[in-house]
Amino acid sequence: MDDPVLSLTDVWKSYSEDDHVLKGVSLRVGKGEFVGIYGRSGSGKSTLLRLMGLLDRPTRGSVQFAGADVSAVSSSEAARIRREKLGYVFQGFNLIPHVTALENIEVPMWLCGVRGDERRERALADLKRFGLERLAGRYPMEMSHGEQQRVAAVRAMVTRPSLILADEPTSSLDDDNAKVLLDLVSAFNRDLGTTVVMVSTSADEAKAGSKVYRLSSGTLSPG
Ligand SMILES: Nc1ncnc2c1ncn2[C@@H]1O[C@H](COP(=O)(O)OP(=O)(O)O)[C@@H](O)[C@H]1O
Ligand SMILES: [Mg+2]
Repeated sequence: MDDPVLSLTDVWKSYSEDDHVLKGVSLRVGKGEFVGIYGRSGSGKSTLLRLMGLLDRPTRGSVQFAGADVSAVSSSEAARIRREKLGYVFQGFNLIPHVTALENIEVPMWLCGVRGDERRERALADLKRFGLERLAGRYPMEMSHGEQQRVAAVRAMVTRPSLILADEPTSSLDDDNAKVLLDLVSAFNRDLGTTVVMVSTSADEAKAGSKVYRLSSGTLSPG
């Protein structure tokens, strides 16, 4: 694999002196791949995603993103990379409650300095592209959980990040809505070539990915 988007080399992470959550994780994620990782609750999935997403630093080992070592970048540089290159879809519903779906989707572009009318156009174009145009003017509380999570996914995608990180994105959804959400993430990957890393407690769900790993006892193994 040449030029992985993300590469982890012998990454360890502990939150206390003698208890390691990750014990030497190495992984290369190539451009355009969809990697699914499954593991039990408490196995370290969110810890791993936070390291990949520059929200935390490894205790040791290195994280390379887009060819540069980001294991120890300054917090302002990490923030810039997160804003410009990464998209997150979390477990819960992270829409801003007092603004509409369209405005929620505009937020990441606003943070990147895209001007107002262009922001609006691009947000609307993405809602249309993914068949969600009718939600544009709705506030989060006027949408179902499934709809809110689809809007959150589009929001993560609107800046066309190099990497989308999805942390149990379907965990609060029923089966039908979970499937729609997974199809949406798969469409980002397939139609737009976005690189995706998704973690789940479900092996079946992780198999939406083209590469599947299991996280257990602090290490990754082919799933
Ligand atoms: N900020 C933190 N401080 C201390 N311990 C943490 C922190 N975050 C996670 N942990 C612990 O690390 C382990 C793995 O947690 P986590 O990565 O959230 O697992 P998962 O996402 O697979 O459920 C758990 O034992 C959890 O209690
Ligand atoms: Mg978690």
